[in-house]
Amino acid sequence: MKKLCILGSTGSIGTQTLEVVRNFPDRLSVVALTCGGNVTLLAKQIQEFSPELVSVSTEQKREELLSLLPTDQKVEVLVGDDGNIACATHSEVTCVVAAMVGMRGLPSVVNAIRCGKDIALANKETLVSGGSVVMPLVKEKKVALLPVDSEHSAIWQCLWGQPEGALNRILLTASGGPFRGYSREMLENVTLEQALAHPTWKMGGKITIDSASMMNKGLEIIEASWLFDVPVENIEVVIHPQSIIHSMIELSDGSVLGQMGFPNMMLPIQIALFYPERTSRVVEKFSPFSEKSANLTFEPCDRKVFGLVDMAYHAGHTGGTLPVAMNAANETVVADFLAGKVKFADIERTVARVMNQHEKEGVIKTPSLDDIFEVDRWARDMATSKKE
Ligand SMILES: NC(=O)c1ccc[n+]([C@@H]2O[C@H](COP(=O)([O-])OP(=O)(O)OC[C@H]3O[C@@H](n4cnc5c(N)ncnc54)[C@H](OP(=O)(O)O)[C@@H]3O)[C@@H](O)[C@H]2O)c1
Repeated sequence: MKKLCILGSTGSIGTQTLEVVRNFPDRLSVVALTCGGNVTLLAKQIQEFSPELVSVSTEQKREELLSLLPTDQKVEVLVGDDGNIACATHSEVTCVVAAMVGMRGLPSVVNAIRCGKDIALANKETLVSGGSVVMPLVKEKKVALLPVDSEHSAIWQCLWGQPEGALNRILLTASGGPFRGYSREMLENVTLEQALAHPTWKMGGKITIDSASMMNKGLEIIEASWLFDVPVENIEVVIHPQSIIHSMIELSDGSVLGQMGFPNMMLPIQIALFYPERTSRVVEKFSPFSEKSANLTFEPCDRKVFGLVDMAYHAGHTGGTLPVAMNAANETVVADFLAGKVKFADIERTVARVMNQHEKEGVIKTPSLDDIFEVDRWARDMATSKKE
């Protein structure tokens, strides 16, 4: 029995993880759940999955949650970052599903690894900002870092059984988002509603905006670089609008392997939770003849229009705290865009401004965890200090 803590159980990945638990009740159980503010859903999850421990974002949310639960419900309710950490490090937990959004998940992930927990990682911001601390810790503690992101799951699966040193290049696929084919001028006037209309994936708000700006692919380049120990220069973004091939790898002899299927996050979640075992199929059976998969197309990413991809390559190449500043600026300005405070095109401008300033002030090459949190705070302040 794998005993789970799900950080961000009320979100898109969190709820799909619980769907996987429903499908495999004899193999997976829930020890701890955390969320931000959706206590109505968390209350339902508590009644269905009976976790021992949960955590919510504020004291007020805790009160609200308790008022929704039957008086005889046995569950301890904690609050805030300490609550998340307590859930992730609970003695019974064997695997933490990092499904929170944002680098706020980093302390819980780091503490869970220190306690020897395996990590099923959806929360890419954690690795983008904290990779230089997380990866050595994963090695030291000999825990498994299991990719959940569909592209990284695809790369990982293609790598199974390959000899060491055989990986030449990663072809990281991207749908291209709702603004594929747009010019920079057209991006100046797009609306929030348009940006939230992702053509192939149904996801949380932040990642959906990241997909529209292509920052999601930028974050994934850095995530892949850490997970598979590949320099960012050896990772190529391939626009594949149908989202059927979830990524490909090129091996030293020129062979190219890909992993394909209809888009459905439940499969990569299931693969991460049961690795190295292959379980029974619960997702829709693949057909190469369906309307969705009959015509697979590929095109290069237009990095002149989607400048955030270039910025991510630069941040990944430079390393140190530059990806931290990039990610923090992006999280901040995307939240502002979702709140209707800035324009879509301000996302790229803000990230560029904060990254430039950080480079001027000095990137820390080998940051400690404290350095990472400090630069993260600084970049968030910088991102809000001046609205374009
Ligand atoms: N969705 C996908 O298909 C997908 C695919 C690949 C990777 N990912 C990655 O997975 C992560 C989650 O994405 P998502 O789409 O599932 O996001 P989401 O739907 O927005 O869910 C985010 C989760 O984080 C929780 N949360 C927010 N603030 C919190 C806090 N202070 N403490 C604890 N929990 C908090 C939210 O709780 P409340 O809603 O209750 O506030 C929610 O449960 C992201 O890093 C994303 O890039 C997602």
